[in-house]
Amino acid sequence: MCGIVGYIGEKEANDILIAGLEKLEYRGYDSAGVAVISKNNIININKKKGRVEILKNLTPLLGTYGIGHSRWSTHGVPSDRNAHPFTDQSNQFAVVHNGIIENYLELKEELRNEGVEFSSDTDSEVIVHLIAKNYQGDLKEAVLKIIKRLQGAYSFCVIKADGHEIIGARNGSPLVIGLGKKENFFASDVSAIIEHTRDVIYLNDFQIARITKENVEVFNFQGEEEALDVREVNWTLEKAQKQGYKHFMLKEIFEQPEVIKETLKVPIHVQNNFSRIIMVACGTASYAGLVGKYIIEEVAKIHVLYEIASEFRYKENLLTQNDLIIVISQSGETADTLAAVRLAKEKGAKTLGIVNVVDSTIAREVDERIYTRAGPEIGVASTKAFISQLIIMYKLAFHLAGKEFDANGVVEKIKETLAKHEEIRTLAQKYYLYQNFLYIGRNRNFPLALEGALKLKEISYIHAEAYPAGELKHGPIALVSEEMPTLAVCPRDSVYAKTFSNIEEIKAREGKVITIATEGDQEIKRVSNDVIYIPKVEEILYPLLCTIPLQLFAYYIAECRGCDIDHPRNLAKAVSVE
Ligand code: F6R
Repeated sequence: MCGIVGYIGEKEANDILIAGLEKLEYRGYDSAGVAVISKNNIININKKKGRVEILKNLTPLLGTYGIGHSRWSTHGVPSDRNAHPFTDQSNQFAVVHNGIIENYLELKEELRNEGVEFSSDTDSEVIVHLIAKNYQGDLKEAVLKIIKRLQGAYSFCVIKADGHEIIGARNGSPLVIGLGKKENFFASDVSAIIEHTRDVIYLNDFQIARITKENVEVFNFQGEEEALDVREVNWTLEKAQKQGYKHFMLKEIFEQPEVIKETLKVPIHVQNNFSRIIMVACGTASYAGLVGKYIIEEVAKIHVLYEIASEFRYKENLLTQNDLIIVISQSGETADTLAAVRLAKEKGAKTLGIVNVVDSTIAREVDERIYTRAGPEIGVASTKAFISQLIIMYKLAFHLAGKEFDANGVVEKIKETLAKHEEIRTLAQKYYLYQNFLYIGRNRNFPLALEGALKLKEISYIHAEAYPAGELKHGPIALVSEEMPTLAVCPRDSVYAKTFSNIEEIKAREGKVITIATEGDQEIKRVSNDVIYIPKVEEILYPLLCTIPLQLFAYYIAECRGCDIDHPRNLAKAVSVE
């Protein structure tokens, strides 16, 4: 993962780089660093283990161009020593890198044999030493030479002490160029530079670019110049700020009515000329896909397979040209999901991407795309993107059935559910000290149980497991005790009675149960310790409503536990490594 920024212009680079890195922290926050070239052509570096803000306490580096990095560790522990940027031994070159150099051990060995001393345990450091070794007067040429040696997915930026240019290369990890007036930028994503410019060029894989204060050039990996594909970013900085909320996650939870309204407007034009649909995604996005499977099968009567992208990419999927592969991704950069797209295309299957980030890699590579309209999602735990993915699942199901999706006042009902936040907060105060949770649901509620448990795990670090409610008695019920509460998703739908019985089985074993149930359901109180009521809606719409209390419950539990909600440990927002 990791975040990269580069700046070259007339302003002081230090603060611009740090501000950019703060926007990219969602990509990783193990360490941060900047390299700035001084007036007398010396590369100066500030880098430290920990969050980007630490860099603000260090003496600012003076100079008008440089590069910066926020790290999500892959090779080598989070430490000052493993923080980027890295320099070569003569301190002439500095590099920041995002991705993994898979053959770094072999390259390191080779460089060591030539007398290079390494200053970190990272895979990234080989890049800068290779560049120093291959430099013969032209930095771009040196980069073109060394990329032939690199295996794996990466993007990196490099500067030379007297170069007055930044070279960026992309193969598998995102890199965007921002075009300004007498200044240009590199960044892992536009949020880092949107404060300065809305005109951007998304580099494609196998492209490198050279930016100077006045000029931008893009080349392919053979060194041939390519046309500049300049695009305009269509969202604003305000959308990427907290606006008074304590955390981005909370702000994003409360944005959901608006997100639903916007996403309901998205037109769907998918042809129904395939024999199978295969949903492929990771994490939360995959749970949206699983809800989609239930709904499409129910509404459109089309068989849908559900696959986790990291599994799909390495197994025999028996794909044919008659398959439609639907990939779902908020970031549009998830390495495994992207690999699934490429695999599907290789086999001649059709690909449809449901993506939030416009012009992201997945959005560009799929045959057809539908954009969710969640706006920039900054909180590492996905919330509003999930609900927008669900909306697209509904729209798609009804479209495939030849019908119009009628959301039937769901936005108002979502608002009513959000209004229960204080009640859910009080409930969280009662439960936040438990170390383990079970989540259960049946049918369309099962993926929600998965999503609720994932939210709790990732932001509160409480162990939570989700099961189809009917599966409990095949093993997991052995876990039920006073010490392990269960959160049951049990609205008044066609499987209500069945889930109700499962809740009773838990109660009979002294398990505590919190149930998400439909307003007016008095019976459920008999088997639940606590009930979170959601408004009554048409049965098929319950997944949308049940999502809200699951998110708020996880949020408030994490708040009670004093967790760093927008930056959960070990995680990053865009998972561009496999
Ligand atoms: C969890 C979460 C992740 C992502 C997953 C896929 O809250 O955000 O599980 O859903 O990493 O990411 P995208 O949707 O960007 O492909």
